[in-house]
Amino acid sequence: MRIDIITVLPELLKSPFEASILKRAIEKGLVEVHLHNLRDFSIGNYKQVDDYQFGGGAGMVMMVEPIDKCISKLKSERDYDEIIYMTPDGNTLNQGMANEISLKKNIIILCGHYKGVDQRVRDMFVTREISIGDYVLSGGELAAAALCDAVIRLLPGVLNDETSALTDTFQDNLLAPPVYTRPADYKGFKVPEILLSGNFPKIEKWREQKALERTQERRPDLLEE
Ligand code: ADE
Repeated sequence: MRIDIITVLPELLKSPFEASILKRAIEKGLVEVHLHNLRDFSIGNYKQVDDYQFGGGAGMVMMVEPIDKCISKLKSERDYDEIIYMTPDGNTLNQGMANEISLKKNIIILCGHYKGVDQRVRDMFVTREISIGDYVLSGGELAAAALCDAVIRLLPGVLNDETSALTDTFQDNLLAPPVYTRPADYKGFKVPEILLSGNFPKIEKWREQKALERTQERRPDLLEE
């Protein structure tokens, strides 16, 4: 998979790909992540990428021309399956979407800033608009990093234990059950007996039950879907 990220703040997107699972995925050649500084496609001597909005009102708007230049250059080099715009008014990211996007070959992620991008960018290029939750970030970069993480860890070969993404919270619309490691008794807080029993069918049943209870209690909406 290849991911091209368009941003005015590439430095914000360096470190997420320089540690742990994402770093290893890149080193193994399972994903390529390319950052593009929108200012390299700016117009005029002032490296302008944003401007006042027509009709008045506070806040700047990201201009269509630099984004067009950047996206058009990328599209002239290869085909893209998706051009995703990170924005708080997009569809809320969920595991199903991450699964879908993980099957794509080449994607572009556009990070919004200020009041967002000129609507014509959305009309001309964007295939999908994604929010990572009902709160407003200073820009789309951290949202893009979250999306990349959710997607990249699903690519075959990225996780050591191939099954571990399958037992994640949300993968089957259930939250994950509680987990424990040593010691079996910590200051009187004990690990449930069943987990020490070695009876794996019973342990599996217990986990399913706990996952269901936790989902009913915290996220009953998931069970209705
Ligand atoms: N940009 C600003 N806030 C955002 C959010 N919640 N999700 C995606 N992009 C954003």
